Amino acid sequence: MNGIVCGSDLNSKAGEESQSCSGTGRTSDIRTEMLESYPILLSIVTSLLFIVLLLAVLIRNNGWAAILWNEIVLQKITNFIMAQSKEERILNFVLQNAVRGDPQSVLDTIDKYCSQKEWAMNVGDEKGLILDKILEETKPSVLLELGTYCGYSAVRIARLLNPSARFLTIEFNPAFAAIARQMIEFAGVQDKVKILEGPSETIIPQLKKKHEVDTLDFVFLDHWKDRYMPDTILLLDHGLLRKGSVILADNVIVPGAPEFIKYIRNNNRFECTNYPAHVEYMKVKDAMEKAVFVG
Ligand SMILES: C[S@@+](CC[C@H](N)C(=O)[O-])C[C@H]1O[C@@H](n2cnc3c(N)ncnc32)[C@H](O)[C@@H]1O
Repeated sequence: MNGIVCGSDLNSKAGEESQSCSGTGRTSDIRTEMLESYPILLSIVTSLLFIVLLLAVLIRNNGWAAILWNEIVLQKITNFIMAQSKEERILNFVLQNAVRGDPQSVLDTIDKYCSQKEWAMNVGDEKGLILDKILEETKPSVLLELGTYCGYSAVRIARLLNPSARFLTIEFNPAFAAIARQMIEFAGVQDKVKILEGPSETIIPQLKKKHEVDTLDFVFLDHWKDRYMPDTILLLDHGLLRKGSVILADNVIVPGAPEFIKYIRNNNRFECTNYPAHVEYMKVKDAMEKAVFVG
């Protein structure tokens, strides 16, 4: 039928019909093209959905993927939008929601923020209980922490110390040290903790002379993982460990400290115990390693 009408140009109506006919032809051409490209579009959408799903599964089950996603993608976007660092947001949340002078309330508020709003690399509530237990067993008087960050573990440790204890914590990022100072002051434990600003590798050799440390009863390793082994060797070389000194290392599975684990477990001067747990605020497996110096 179309062919007959389209071929006719006897009058204007026929001309109009001819035009509308060629319009119908274009529409059907477009429809044909769309139908032809439909499988391509479908495969693109399916692939994108598959990638999103894969990323979601990876982020949920793989500690590294989850940390990279939180620290690199989410955090950078949120910092840009809010013109504020994540650590400032954590501090502000504490200032607005925790009870001044109550360390437990500060810890609970940080845990709430980091489990519900933004992930952060504090030792966290689950591994925090292991830390508490070891501190209660050890009853240390002279303590060192490597890696202060926002002061979560510093507050956690300080709240369990007896008044005569000395606790030093080392942080090389000035912005984090400033946040930690305010966090510690708000928690009311400022008289029990001293933040030393600078790299651990510079400060450890100065501990004896500059900071009047004889030996350490307890060391919490929670800075960058590639420093765990060299800093343990530095502590040994500078005579900062005594028989019975306890080293507790966080994150020995994720991000992991394989060199340190190999070194400490194969060293007969240390007795090691592993404490399985999970990465802070995640369901991914992690562990802490306790190493007691036996002399
Ligand atoms: C995992 S966070 C510490 C978390 C903290 N202990 C807590 O549980 O609340 C690691 C911190 O170590 C600091 N850091 C890493 N390497 C360091 C080094 N060599 N000397 C001093 N600070 C270091 C980082 O800037 C970061 O703030």
